Amino acid sequence: MSVNRAPSHPIVAPTFHHTTFTTLRLDEMVAWYEKVAGLTPVFHGDHGAWLTNDAANHRIALLSPPGLKHPVDKGHTTGLHHTAFEYATFDQWLDNFVRLRGEGIRPFLNLDHGMTMSMYYQDPDGNGVEIQVDTFGDWEKSRSWMYFSAEFANNPIGAHFDPDKLADAREAGLGFQEIHRRARLGEYVPEVIPEIYLPEVY
Ligand SMILES: [Fe+2]
Repeated sequence: MSVNRAPSHPIVAPTFHHTTFTTLRLDEMVAWYEKVAGLTPVFHGDHGAWLTNDAANHRIALLSPPGLKHPVDKGHTTGLHHTAFEYATFDQWLDNFVRLRGEGIRPFLNLDHGMTMSMYYQDPDGNGVEIQVDTFGDWEKSRSWMYFSAEFANNPIGAHFDPDKLADAREAGLGFQEIHRRARLGEYVPEVIPEIYLPEVY
């Protein structure tokens, strides 16, 4: 007699769609996500906004019902550390940094993880927002490297870099892969190594 075993995962998996935050700074958050990652509201009411930057009806939702309180010591309590967005090219990714730098918005943490180069910003509530570029430009190769390489297993956090130095390197004529290679070797390390914890914004 054959026995059917219960599957440990769904036969057809759902696709990741959106994240929802509560906030006491609704309008400020809407403006920030538009400025940093090009999300615009599909619906923006008095107590909530639903934002997207692609074909989905929303990717980030913001809820502001009465009675909310600010969190205490967000960086050292469990929960969401960051949401991530990916650029298709290195130049687009670095251009976004240069544009935001001009607006006075800077990442608090910058890491070359090997398969991505990543800048971590904080929204007005202190939630992390990662803006990344895939160093392989190919999700299959990227996933394979992450799965198999001893380099990632030994150091998944990767190499810290100073994004100003990356912008300078590009100005000097270096290309994506050369800058990535040098970043991995620690050539663009910042003067002060930041902590991984979300800095307190309250
Ligand atoms: Fe991430």
